Amino acid sequence: MLKRIDHVGIACRDLDLAIAFSTETFGLTLAGREDNAEQGVREAMLVVADAPAGMSYVQLLEPLGPDTPVGRFLRRRGEGLHHVGYGVADIDAALAAIAAGGVRLIDSRPRHGSMGSSIAFLHPGDVGGVLTELVESPARR
Ligand code: CO
Repeated sequence: MLKRIDHVGIACRDLDLAIAFSTETFGLTLAGREDNAEQGVREAMLVVADAPAGMSYVQLLEPLGPDTPVGRFLRRRGEGLHHVGYGVADIDAALAAIAAGGVRLIDSRPRHGSMGSSIAFLHPGDVGGVLTELVESPARR
């Protein structure tokens, strides 16, 4: 069901500083940045690898305000690993199969993600304590 790690989401306080660090320290390439008001984040995707199964990224997340999911995460936990996003071929089928196995879904239906993708989050309490996201790339829809 899971094809690859699509991205690792990292919460940061200053997106510009985090982008500069990743490009200068690791040589990553900025693929895109956008504000997602629905999710309360300003985000950037940086390319790690262009593998046969698809691209993989680091996703840097700066909250649009303190009372957003990432804003609350920063207040509780500070900067750091926020979630893992796995690539799937068919997000609707994957959600149905995962829910049938008893895992609670934060998103029962896919919503708009980075760079035209469809995404859905699973409840971390049912996935080993890791906030887990499914990603279907736009090219594969
Ligand atoms: Co993500």
